[in-house]
Amino acid sequence: MTTTQSEVDFEEPGQVPGAPLLEVDDLFVEFRTRDGVAKVLNGVSYRVEPGETLAVLGESGSGKSVTAQTIMGILDMPPGFITGGEIRFHGENLLKASARRRREVRGSGIAMIFQDALSALNPVFTVGFQIEEQLRLRRGMSRKDARKRAVELLDQVKIPNAKGRVRQYPHEFSGGMRQRAMIAMSLALDPEMLIADEPTTALDVTVQAQIMDLLKDIQVERNMGLILITHDLGVVAEVADRIAVMYAGRIVEQSLARDLYRKPGHPYTQGLLDSLPRLDLKGTELRTIKGLPPSLLNVPKGCPFNPRCPRVQDICKTEVPPQHRLAPGRLSACHFAEELISGD
Ligand SMILES: Nc1ncnc2c1ncn2[C@@H]1O[C@H](COP(=O)(O)OP(=O)(O)OP(=O)(O)O)[C@@H](O)[C@H]1O
Ligand code: SF4
Ligand SMILES: [Mg+2]
Repeated sequence: MTTTQSEVDFEEPGQVPGAPLLEVDDLFVEFRTRDGVAKVLNGVSYRVEPGETLAVLGESGSGKSVTAQTIMGILDMPPGFITGGEIRFHGENLLKASARRRREVRGSGIAMIFQDALSALNPVFTVGFQIEEQLRLRRGMSRKDARKRAVELLDQVKIPNAKGRVRQYPHEFSGGMRQRAMIAMSLALDPEMLIADEPTTALDVTVQAQIMDLLKDIQVERNMGLILITHDLGVVAEVADRIAVMYAGRIVEQSLARDLYRKPGHPYTQGLLDSLPRLDLKGTELRTIKGLPPSLLNVPKGCPFNPRCPRVQDICKTEVPPQHRLAPGRLSACHFAEELISGD
């Protein structure tokens, strides 16, 4: 692709024309605590393009949020240390960017919504004020214009009576409405990329589905990149284009969602699928993955999943499985990955 000079002029410093929207490349993070060094991310890589939804899935403690916090530049440092890798936004390595540049990218380049909207929203300011403040400080809007835009945003996330609601405090909103307000706030600066960290966990099933639908609609409308973090494969089944499965700070499988649901390429993914409730098997007992994820202070030798894996062999206890490329865009870190998907 050729690039004209005027296109180059509009790029931010450090950005590379034609580069992917977001790439996490071989990221290593550790926490140095009094109990020892917890190697929390061990070579995490994924990428997201405009208009694409990547679901990041894994049990508690697998490193999903730490990856997101590192992307956003809000990792707790210390005790956290980034010991390797790059995070590229339009080709610009954010880990090398100045604090000022990172603040610019936060919110207007990449925005994030959190699991617990109540603690993410400030209880002493109205919902409207919290949206308007960003618009005034970051976009230089007048009070009047910022109020108008805040109402539009609340309207977009389908909050009824947005004109009246904009004057209310977070505690006056229901759980689902608060999560919608959080989404509106995250959209205020028109980000190109949105990270939603367990956005529906605190909500009941019906509201969960509504929020997922809303996120999907907004993403399509704005052609945003979306990272949906969850521990529940069921929640993302309808909305994810691709899925990255994390275990003990590694991506153990990465695949198009439809391929992964049809035939998982890693025993851990298989375990997650087996533990989903299924309408067609009503009354049968749910199979869960036995055991617990390892302590990151002391990860098992070889494949980190080996103490819990139903397919474990001797090699698994001594050799770390490499990433097997099963198909374009499909990776699995299991010694027996090819066997698992054979017969396709
Ligand atoms: N500030 C911190 N200090 C020390 N350890 C931390 C800190 N933040 C996270 N960790 C550790 O990093 C590991 C990964 O945590 P992370 O929050 O990314 O997990 P997660 O996959 O998001 O889990 P969950 O589904 O529970 O949200 C965990 O072992 C956690 O205890
Ligand atoms: S490498 Fe071995 S222990 Fe690890 S997931 Fe594959 S079969 Fe199981
Ligand atoms: Mg988390």
